[in-house]
Amino acid sequence: MNNFTYHNPTKLIFGKAQTEQLTAEVPKYGKKVLMVYGGGSIKRNGLYDLVKEKLAEIDAEVFELPGVEPNPRVSTARKGIDICKKEGIDFLLAVGGGSTIDCTKAIAVGAKTDTDIWDIVTKKAVAEDALPFGTVLTLAATGSEMNAGSVITNWETNEKHGWGSPYAYPKFSILDPVNTFSVPRNQTVYGIVDMMSHALEHYFHHETNTLLQDRMVEGLLQTVIETAPKLLEDLESYEHRATILYNGTMALNGMVNMGYQGDWATHNLEHAVSAVHDIPHGGGLAILFPHWMKHTLDANVGRFKQLAERVFEVEAEGKSDREVALEGIEKLREFWNSIGAPSRLADYEITEDSVEEMADKTVIARPEFGNFQKLTKQDSIAIFRAAL
Ligand code: NZQ
Ligand code: ZN
Repeated sequence: MNNFTYHNPTKLIFGKAQTEQLTAEVPKYGKKVLMVYGGGSIKRNGLYDLVKEKLAEIDAEVFELPGVEPNPRVSTARKGIDICKKEGIDFLLAVGGGSTIDCTKAIAVGAKTDTDIWDIVTKKAVAEDALPFGTVLTLAATGSEMNAGSVITNWETNEKHGWGSPYAYPKFSILDPVNTFSVPRNQTVYGIVDMMSHALEHYFHHETNTLLQDRMVEGLLQTVIETAPKLLEDLESYEHRATILYNGTMALNGMVNMGYQGDWATHNLEHAVSAVHDIPHGGGLAILFPHWMKHTLDANVGRFKQLAERVFEVEAEGKSDREVALEGIEKLREFWNSIGAPSRLADYEITEDSVEEMADKTVIARPEFGNFQKLTKQDSIAIFRAAL
């Protein structure tokens, strides 16, 4: 375990009817509020009206930026930045999933600088300040509600990049499981795959003495595996929505990965696929993760064996470490298939034709990526081909 400092400043407000808390939290940051949201789900499920009602109760002057896309675009963030600068916005309120929150992070940072936000996303410049912002989360998946990361796409250059800044933590995040009841089955599955993938990205590292961290990550995976099928049987179960929502936040708020660095190559591979084909993040991860695992198995077969035994209950007796490891990978694939996640790039009509282009995107920021095993463009090509 390495030395570490952990500081997560986001106030987490969890539970039934907690959207009410907006009236206590928002006034701390000012009167002029820019409400950022997606393509209309919050209008259909009534959350839009509820949030507006709460903001009216505190006499906030509300501006709106609707239409944030899944895989949010830098062009939309720029629109929000213009509104902030023109109207002198005090506070941003993201009401939505990871895309809405990520876009809000870019707006918050962009509103405080003359540097173009794309230069910050692509790390040519560094964020030095941000408007304060809060979130009302509507989808369990990314963990963006309690971390300082954001992923933004530029459709002029077909690039999708993650960036982060200490200024990009929400001041507060409100997580009412009821606000996730209306998430359709497919998006629920993508969210489940995403949070499991975050746990898996943490799991593959070469650090020693991470006994508690390993158990926490395994616990996240086991809890999702146990709960997901029950939730998919009953999408309006408060209990199961709550378990999955809490799991999504815990998988990527820094709590389970103190003192070591996870891998993150599969996220880089997926972002490259999404940058070219605009597919859902969780769908791409379900396809790619088992292939990344097979590709990097020999970097430390013991990690894969431990995962197989502890999380997927693979019986090791009489089998080689490699056989146990491969069985674990197969069980992961089977689980994702069983909940309806895609398993081949062909499911999104992605063919050999775009393998080279996607592989180029994986090394756009640096020639090698991934911490568990360094991968190059050639590795990306091999993994994409295996996933076709
Ligand atoms: O846009 P609306 O109409 O709101 O509909 C959304 C969208 O179509 C819908 N939805 C959300 N909440 C709903 C709902 N529909 C009905 N009822 C609700 N309560 O779901 C669709 C997907 O939403 P989106 O926000 O795109 O999903 P998600 O939360 O999975 O976010 C995905 C984005 O986050 C990035 C991904 O790359 C992708 O761009 N990531 C961000 C991370 C971070 N900031 O830490 C880490 C992740 O690994 C990930 O890369
Ligand atoms: Zn993810």
